[in-house]
Amino acid sequence: MKIIKNSTILSQEYIPEDIIGREEQIARLRGLIRTNEGSSSFVIRGNPGTGKTLIGKYLLREMKGYNGIYVNCYVNQTDRSIISSILSDPNIRLPELGNARSESLSSILFKELPDSKNLIVLDEAQSLKRSHGQIVYMLSRSKELGGPEIKLMLLSMEEPEMYLDKSTLSGLGKYNRISLKEYDAEDLHEILARRANSGLYEGTFTDSAIARISELVEESGSARIAIELLRNSAIYAESRNVFLDEEAVLQAYRDFSPPLEDSSLINLDEDEILLLKSLLESTRLVSGFKTSDLKKMNTGMNDARMYKFLKTIELSGLVKKSKIGKGYSGGVENEYILRISPNILLSKLNMIGKFSGPSEKGSMD
Ligand SMILES: Nc1ncnc2c1ncn2[C@@H]1O[C@H](COP(=O)(O)OP(=O)(O)OP(=O)(O)O)[C@@H](O)[C@H]1O
Ligand SMILES: [Mg+2]
Repeated sequence: MKIIKNSTILSQEYIPEDIIGREEQIARLRGLIRTNEGSSSFVIRGNPGTGKTLIGKYLLREMKGYNGIYVNCYVNQTDRSIISSILSDPNIRLPELGNARSESLSSILFKELPDSKNLIVLDEAQSLKRSHGQIVYMLSRSKELGGPEIKLMLLSMEEPEMYLDKSTLSGLGKYNRISLKEYDAEDLHEILARRANSGLYEGTFTDSAIARISELVEESGSARIAIELLRNSAIYAESRNVFLDEEAVLQAYRDFSPPLEDSSLINLDEDEILLLKSLLESTRLVSGFKTSDLKKMNTGMNDARMYKFLKTIELSGLVKKSKIGKGYSGGVENEYILRISPNILLSKLNMIGKFSGPSEKGSMD
């Protein structure tokens, strides 16, 4: 039985016509972009799967008359590569790295952009903390620096204090911040129902299957995970020649591990990466660990940092938490199940160092 009518609609990259539960934020951003004079910057913060990229791309598509540009800062981590990505014209040559002072980079950029109505979205902006670059300063102060009018939108999992320096931060207006809450089961249900109605054949899925998916992923509050489980359930049902009902969802859920973005590791600081590595290398660890296992490791981290570490790996989708009650004297004992094979995760962690690349500090004064 064919269930999937349009697989594009079930993909993560798809930009739907209606965005559920974010109407207010979109209206506010639209207003801010249109009414603010000159250059201005907006910050959208939210956990994985809360719709940051979607809102950014939706506005780029919707704001006709703007020169819209999207850059993923996880892929482009240095000022140079962000600028060449903005310019994206292979005929524009940036000066060689050695003599690329900020003046020359910014003047090339400013010269190529139209004088007004530039809308630049920097996604995964938390990645910028690795590069120590000046790009955000340059873009957000473009007018003062003699450049064109730029509306800058930063999307990130972290508060801007975590990845911007003081001088850049001070240019951010107090009212230009938007924080996205995780979706509740009702939002997720609505998001999934719309995807299913347009992406699947009518009569091949039940509403209780959709409701079940929303319940299963509610804890994460992530539309990304919800859509991925919908897609997996549809593929499962199609391959078994059955309806997409609750049973199919539960079967698909058993083999389900949410999509892991490379960027989910970016939120870990160096100590946390080391800790995660030693957890993974510890021979006892087969598929997960408990809070007390972590405590026993003598990490030198205090409780607050330990908690932040656990929260970070959970929100990134690296582990799934399940409570197993009061265990040790320090508080509630949780069990963390790895959602990705330890070997794959280890190899990804070992790659991280290679991404940071040489710092651009010094060339940007
Ligand atoms: N409000 C919504 N309505 C409809 N679809 C949504 C909504 N929010 C998110 N989605 C869908 O969920 C998926 C994940 O959303 P998105 O990529 O925007 O999350 P994100 O906040 O950028 O996450 P990450 O931090 O992992 O990059 C996408 O397929 C997106 O289309
Ligand atoms: Mg995103």
